[in-house]
Amino acid sequence: MKNQNTLFPRVAAAIGSVTLIGALAACGGGGAGSAAPGEEGGSQAAEDVTIGVAMPTQTSERWIADGEAVESQLEEAGFTVDLQFANDDIPTQQQQIDQMITKGADILIVASIDGTALGNQLQAAADQDIPIISYDRLINDTENVDFYVTFDNYNVGVQQATSLLQGLGVLDAEGEETGEEGPFAIELFAGSLDDNNAHFFWGGAMDTLEPYLDSGVLEVASGQTNIEQAATLRWSQETAQKRMEDLLTSHYSGGSDQLDGVLSPYDGISRGIITALQNAGYGKDIESGLPVTSGQDAEIASVKLIDTGVQYATIFKDTRKLATQAVEAAKAYAAGDEPEANDTESYDNGVKVVPSFLLESDIVVAENIESLLIESGYWTAEEVEAGQSK
Ligand code: GAL
Repeated sequence: MKNQNTLFPRVAAAIGSVTLIGALAACGGGGAGSAAPGEEGGSQAAEDVTIGVAMPTQTSERWIADGEAVESQLEEAGFTVDLQFANDDIPTQQQQIDQMITKGADILIVASIDGTALGNQLQAAADQDIPIISYDRLINDTENVDFYVTFDNYNVGVQQATSLLQGLGVLDAEGEETGEEGPFAIELFAGSLDDNNAHFFWGGAMDTLEPYLDSGVLEVASGQTNIEQAATLRWSQETAQKRMEDLLTSHYSGGSDQLDGVLSPYDGISRGIITALQNAGYGKDIESGLPVTSGQDAEIASVKLIDTGVQYATIFKDTRKLATQAVEAAKAYAAGDEPEANDTESYDNGVKVVPSFLLESDIVVAENIESLLIESGYWTAEEVEAGQSK
């Protein structure tokens, strides 16, 4: 274990030389906060450690849930929290992080909009020995990122493609080949190219789909099979809807030219795709001819669509668990330790391999909404029915 004073002197100064958790426990509520920052043997209340939490947007439920989960778990641990959402606008996020630093943040947790746009902010943080935890999305091209908490993003892509193949009947529920030969007409959507995750999702999905594209079980009539062609800037629902409309007009003129499935990397994008397909007369649900569409995030509007047979699947990433890992990492820094990584190979940000903690995800289809989402308390049955969070 490194000495906190050499690891992050600033945090050490904020919390004194007794570890935060130990200090709180030892003080039993009385006498904490009496020593000056950095004073040997002193300690400060956890609330004197401020953690800046930068989230990308409130336009997607998942980020609101992430922000709330991180905030409440940090507050439970006694920290002071400065939570900001940036409206998917890069200058806003840069400004918010600048302000967090100016206002004296001791640790930063950052879910970036553009993984390469925060260089100046992170340099300023590093200059003040502020540990930086990259949240869900890797921050690229900088030395100044200390830890990364996320899901196994490559596997999320594998799961997205697997769910598409299951919906088409090429794979069964166990993931075994059924012998179904198609050919099935599919189109491919990717996320925002400036988000590192988009490349991992795409990589996992394409590695899974490629054998079927090669053998002719799957066909992409548009020929748009590289990530640049399939990308959706800022993961926008509207952009995805427009691209789907254009693809339908140009490549699926009706008759035998029918689309069977769509690879979608995120529920918002899936809903844009589904709207375009419904407007083009594909039917209201899968049973009446709507193509099979994948997704991600188990957003409540999409969970309802899955429950009612409109969207085929989503990928559930439990944001409460991700928040917990971010909070664990923050606690470790506050105690002068290094957070515990479970992956030290996968996430090279262009400058270094960032030690990471990866969580697992699950495929959600209509049949397991109850067991995965309702029983775990992620959504209530009423919320699923309403398609809205309370
Ligand atoms: C990614 C994230 C996904 C999804 C997407 C759009 O970075 O990993 O879960 O939320 O952004 O917000």
